[in-house]
Amino acid sequence: MKIRDFGVEMWMAEYENDAVYNIAETCVESITVNELLSMADMKTEAFERIGQMKMTYGAIEGSNELRTEIAKLYDSASVENITVTHGTIGANSLVYDVLVEPGDHVISVLPTYQQHYSIPESLGARVDILPLRWENEFLPDLDELRLLIKPDTKVISINNPNNPTGAVMGKEILNGIIEIARSVGAYVLCDEVYRGLDHEEGFTPSVFDLYEKGISTASLSKTFSLAGLRIGWVAGPKDFISRANKRRDYNIISCGMIDDYLAGIALRHKDKILERNLALVKRNADILDRWVSNSEHVDYIKPKGGTTAFLRYSNDMKSEELCRDIMKKTGVMLVPGTALDMEGFLRIGYANNTEILEVGLKRLQEYFDENWGGSCGKSRA
Ligand SMILES: Cc1ncc(COP(=O)(O)O)c(C=O)c1O
Repeated sequence: MKIRDFGVEMWMAEYENDAVYNIAETCVESITVNELLSMADMKTEAFERIGQMKMTYGAIEGSNELRTEIAKLYDSASVENITVTHGTIGANSLVYDVLVEPGDHVISVLPTYQQHYSIPESLGARVDILPLRWENEFLPDLDELRLLIKPDTKVISINNPNNPTGAVMGKEILNGIIEIARSVGAYVLCDEVYRGLDHEEGFTPSVFDLYEKGISTASLSKTFSLAGLRIGWVAGPKDFISRANKRRDYNIISCGMIDDYLAGIALRHKDKILERNLALVKRNADILDRWVSNSEHVDYIKPKGGTTAFLRYSNDMKSEELCRDIMKKTGVMLVPGTALDMEGFLRIGYANNTEILEVGLKRLQEYFDENWGGSCGKSRA
């Protein structure tokens, strides 16, 4: 099975260890195990419990306790609707393994997480791209989707809130997509790894609750600041989950018992984590917004959710060359649009450490001023 290189992951792996100001990272600043257990007031109890754990494979599909907590993130889920995976990356991969066969038709938005078009392509699917356009504030055009849908479309893949643009689809657009999917019996897979991070509303509707063939993938990595647990999940119709559980025997078995246990603690105390994280995301989004408003060199569609924004720059330089030059001269790490198949943009992750964001943006401004002067305006906006 041939598969394209994963642009964004390769870029992150190449540069994240050398970055002085990493403003490419997509997690809300990660927390330590001690911070998690302090929020839950369970430090002594949790370490005692972990010490006594016998390291078996544990519950194969995820413990009942954990799946019960995950189910609470949806309006209409029970434990049978959930299977626990190795992050959202494992969840997405599992969904495509179960659903997509050679020759199937798949529609994916772009920009998005590359898994959503490169895995189906590698499985022999015919993949059509539904472009998310600047002029539409990076929201899907439903008329365009109607032109792409086919009688044999197996799955429509979306990502909400969107990485990299920060656009958020509300219930109306989701229902529009669902209506089109339903007309041919297609599944809608929504990568909801940033769900809970709508800057105003926190949790926005999930496709799982809106559609009988809606599949939601998510994890504790971004919204809950616990990427190190590598705990994610699929929430889907029960018949789909039982097919996924047969498939997972081949490539997951189970996730780690300690991770499962800590993930359950995090979700039982999610209100505290979410309070911290929404405050951090909003504070940093305001810092970024002020910076973009004052910049002569970049503009953007202001993100409404998630942790990333897509900066458009007014210069002919290729984004990869630009990012390498910025990194070399300032130590500031961004992600080039080409790593997301979108030339002319830079992705910034603004939800990490506030101080690093502030200094990183200052250095970036100095870079633009020194290298591009004051000639590049916002005429493209
Ligand atoms: C949209 C999206 N999906 C999935 C992932 C994978 O996340 P994880 O496997 O840590 O849950 C990422 C990570 O950047 C992402 O941005």
